[in-house]
Amino acid sequence: SSNEIKDRKVVSGDGGEPHQVGDGPVLTTSQGAPVADNQNTLRAGARGPALMEDFHFREKIFHFDHERIPERVVHARGYGAHGYFEATEDLSDLTSAHLFQEKGRRVPAFVRFSTVAGNKGSVDLARDVRGFAVKLYTEEGNWDIVGNNIPVFFIQDAMKFPDLIHSVKEAPDRAFPQAQSAHDNFWDFISLMPESMHMVMWAMSDRAIPRSFRFMEGFGVHTFRFVNAAGKSQFVKFHWKPKQGLQSVIWDEAVKINGADPDFHRRDLWNAIQNGDFPEWELGVQVFDDAFADSFPFDVLDATKLIPEEDVPVRIVGRLVLDRVVDNFFAETEQVAFCTQNIVPGVDFTNDPLLQGRNFSYLDTQIKRLGGPNFTHIPINAPKCPFHHFQQDGHMAMHNPKGRANYEPNSWSEGGPRADPDRGHKSFPEQIDGEKRKVRGELFADHYSQARQFYNSQTKIEQDHIANAIVFELSKVEAPQIRERLVAHLPNIDKDLAKAVADGLGLKSVPKAHKPARTPVDGLKTSDALSILKN
Ligand code: HEM
Repeated sequence: SSNEIKDRKVVSGDGGEPHQVGDGPVLTTSQGAPVADNQNTLRAGARGPALMEDFHFREKIFHFDHERIPERVVHARGYGAHGYFEATEDLSDLTSAHLFQEKGRRVPAFVRFSTVAGNKGSVDLARDVRGFAVKLYTEEGNWDIVGNNIPVFFIQDAMKFPDLIHSVKEAPDRAFPQAQSAHDNFWDFISLMPESMHMVMWAMSDRAIPRSFRFMEGFGVHTFRFVNAAGKSQFVKFHWKPKQGLQSVIWDEAVKINGADPDFHRRDLWNAIQNGDFPEWELGVQVFDDAFADSFPFDVLDATKLIPEEDVPVRIVGRLVLDRVVDNFFAETEQVAFCTQNIVPGVDFTNDPLLQGRNFSYLDTQIKRLGGPNFTHIPINAPKCPFHHFQQDGHMAMHNPKGRANYEPNSWSEGGPRADPDRGHKSFPEQIDGEKRKVRGELFADHYSQARQFYNSQTKIEQDHIANAIVFELSKVEAPQIRERLVAHLPNIDKDLAKAVADGLGLKSVPKAHKPARTPVDGLKTSDALSILKN
């Protein structure tokens, strides 16, 4: 194991002879030339200047100087592991995805868990959303389910994402706070963004301080589509349910753990897998048709809403097991590039405006983060099924087309790959009509009902934790107007919660409840709301 110390003579760096003996390979330059001395620069005489000629020195320092790449603009701190996914159901009636054509099909998987706001060196137990990103290396391409441990999101439209993230990351002038949400800018933004209230309830709950990655749920958040071989489509939501159960710490524990061991979550995952205690999640799907979507009192394209499991039960269709740690953190966990647009035949997008924006954003940022358009050539990102295309050149091209043809169609007998209408991904031919406009969210207008539903689903102790968390967070906010503006949303969720928070902050009374800007379609089925809007 990597902890073993070989009985190998290694002489310390003060230049004793011989430098190294033993059975390991000879150290070389990256060109493969054996290195005789890895401790001393080539110099002119015993006390003379270092010589430019020392190619080993120059190469070593040059490479070191370029070791850092930009950290992810969000979810910078993460931890990954390998494993596999197994379909436990034949879902061929719902989707043509190769993986689900037969019970028992297995594919390799890579998962990266993360916090959102903190930078790469921040603490594990921050009160934050956790990323739960899964890459399934299927036989028809990589399928990424880039989810979180909370089933809804702060905002409804990707247009708002840069502002949300600017507000939650360290303030631009003082560069703090770095990892917690206790933040004037964050609460300023949130208090001005009523649609965030549902997610805020989750983020202030115990879910945001998980005991470890192994005890978290995961959610695909958006509504996606399954499309079967006959072209029939149904809507689908994805859930990961931990076999280990769901566990959180309490805030006082989180604060202590952060001080004692900021790597608590990554150490936990590493140790569990190394000890053979492989964490496992069930994949659940909520599948529903257009009729359900039309009758649901919220738009299924609104990522701040969930479909209650009482309305559409979660059907377990697979299992994900993590059974192998990475060989190298940078090569795998840092360089992995998840992207919502990585889907396979049988899976499709919906018109959720958050999802559509994500489909652009991930690829765009990864071109910069990973140094050019060829990051799919990095082994962790490359498909494990055969792949053939005519993309070529660019920085670090490693899979340029072989032979004469690099275009399609071509008529050469060995002309390379061709598109295949029978096998390729086909977008569901959804009927679209309507005027081109910036939608101001009439269909996404009710921001409080599901926040209330979540709050009511909590036990008394958990409700107290939510109130305490909001008091703690807001007590760090210096501007009284921001505190009051935030508390003004709470009576719309629960009067006792509003009172507890107002008391905790020492406010004289509960501020007047925030009046929602748009209410006309509240409580209406989506189809009725749509027809009102059209008239
Ligand atoms: C990264 C989830 C919304 C842009 C991530 C990661 C996760 C995630 C899990 C980390 C991936 C990894 O481990 O490498 C989500 C979820 C969202 C959401 C569940 C809402 C449902 C958005 C939106 C945007 C966005 C709306 C932009 C419009 C990004 C970017 C990264 C990222 C740029 C960094 C990717 C990289 O550098 O590889 N997101 N995100 N996300 N997300 Fe999101």
